[in-house]
Amino acid sequence: MNAPLRSERWFSGEHVPGFVHRTAMRASGFARASFEGRPVVGICNSWSELISCNLHLRALADSVRRGILQAGGVPLEFPTISLGEQLMKPTTMLFRNLMSMDVEESLRAYPFDAVVMLGGCDKTMPAQLMGAASADVPTIVVPGGPANPATFRGRQIGVGTDLWGYVDDVRAGRMSVSEYEALEASAGPSAGHCPEMGTASTVAAVVEALGMTLPGASAIPATDARRSQVAEDCGRAAVRLAQDGVRPSQILTADAFHNAITVLVALGGSTNVVLHLLALAGRAEVAVGLQDFHEIAAHVPLIANVRPAGEHLVEQLFEIGGLPVVLKELAPLLRRDALTVNGRTVGENLADAPPVDGDVVRPLADPVQGPGGLAVVRGNLAPGGAVVKCSAASENLLRHTGPAVVFEDMDDLRKRIDDPDLPVTADSVLVLRNAGPVGGPGMPEWGALPIPQKLLREGVTDMVRISDARMSGTAYGTTVLHVSPEAAVGGPLALVEDGDLIRLDARAGVLELEVDDATLAERGRVAPRTRSAYRRGYGALYAERVTQADTGCDFDFLRGRSDDPAAEPYG
Ligand code: FES
Ligand code: MG
Repeated sequence: MNAPLRSERWFSGEHVPGFVHRTAMRASGFARASFEGRPVVGICNSWSELISCNLHLRALADSVRRGILQAGGVPLEFPTISLGEQLMKPTTMLFRNLMSMDVEESLRAYPFDAVVMLGGCDKTMPAQLMGAASADVPTIVVPGGPANPATFRGRQIGVGTDLWGYVDDVRAGRMSVSEYEALEASAGPSAGHCPEMGTASTVAAVVEALGMTLPGASAIPATDARRSQVAEDCGRAAVRLAQDGVRPSQILTADAFHNAITVLVALGGSTNVVLHLLALAGRAEVAVGLQDFHEIAAHVPLIANVRPAGEHLVEQLFEIGGLPVVLKELAPLLRRDALTVNGRTVGENLADAPPVDGDVVRPLADPVQGPGGLAVVRGNLAPGGAVVKCSAASENLLRHTGPAVVFEDMDDLRKRIDDPDLPVTADSVLVLRNAGPVGGPGMPEWGALPIPQKLLREGVTDMVRISDARMSGTAYGTTVLHVSPEAAVGGPLALVEDGDLIRLDARAGVLELEVDDATLAERGRVAPRTRSAYRRGYGALYAERVTQADTGCDFDFLRGRSDDPAAEPYG
């Protein structure tokens, strides 16, 4: 039986508001028969010419529209702010919450019965999901899909993962400037998001694991015709969601988050997704904390052999069957009764999934790496916790004690990191502070601190690095990220001095500054507090209301859901 449509509160009745609302649709060229009694399905499009990752979403919206029309719905496409990793300053993370508010308020304020989200680049889908969870209007996501991989020096490359290695080659004198220029020209050969298991691909996979898109949708390349086909299917599915009244609150359950975290770890996915899932759980009013990631990760091996943790790109994952292959192999670790947007459970969807191929996706019994690919560490240096992506780290550094080399902020780091007189050895622990949500501001992806040039020349490729920053999903190294609370709000990271010993034991969940409490208390009395860079506007709101990394950097006032304003028909 069909649920009553939310849009009828706008379009039915002979009172003046009903008349005005119908007039608005008629003025847009809709005959009464084309919208009366039909589910209104929004197409929330983060297309923008400023984001090559989302550049194809404009055309993809036409496929969604076709699906909605075929199923008897009324498609209405609308724009929101869009967030592109490469061009947006100071960092897209600063604006994720802004975009989520834009999405949420658009859903609440307009007569949507369901919405299809079109996103791609790192922050766009998380922001859309957060807005959808708070508005709790029936929602399905169409991930944009990975870009075509570039080929350089005879090897398929990912946009981020491989570039970082080449940047080190340039700094170490192993690559010429003209080769570097050739790389620049070829690195991004098509629209679509980064083609390795960076943040965008991880988000897309997690969207599928959460049950918020159709099975198999996440890994289809952006330029493949099957991307358009699945967009059409999502349009049809959105109409069904509207008719059945299935809301995000029925899909984004504790079981769905368990599955999402399991998949994140099994893929060796981006640490950024830890933040997005924590923020989303806050919106969905599901009790998921940072510690859950550590506990779930302890039982989940890395089975996807995809860069940066493995060898392949997302395209190869798609070719062997996409995420359903991963989910099927993970089945014993999943909560299979969780509902998905096609109306079936995770377990039911797995019935048709292909088996592992043994290379791109490995069996649980013979994984790429054993369990524990993600660890949460705590101690006097991170009372709220910090995150280590063990699957992208050097095993021998995961248990390491070394003297700190402290950088006050990114400017300080840029000035001194390549100084030949920097007192640093391979055993040192590089510390960057004032790079968190308030201090960055916006928690930039500075957490993979560059290896000092003089050590690079000695052949050092990894060191322990600690910061209150994030790290690109495409980066790697033994980095302790998201230290919470951050230095700029008085976290103990602000108290570290050059030469202090820092002890990391990622597997045991420990991050300790080996300095006694009395000394730290003394330093705390004089340590300067950094003020936010913003005195007005959105930045000032952000600095005042952003929560710390251990709860996902959402705004404190955005947690949970809001009432539906459409309950009042005469507004
Ligand atoms: Fe947009 Fe990587 S830069 S997904
Ligand atoms: Mg990224």
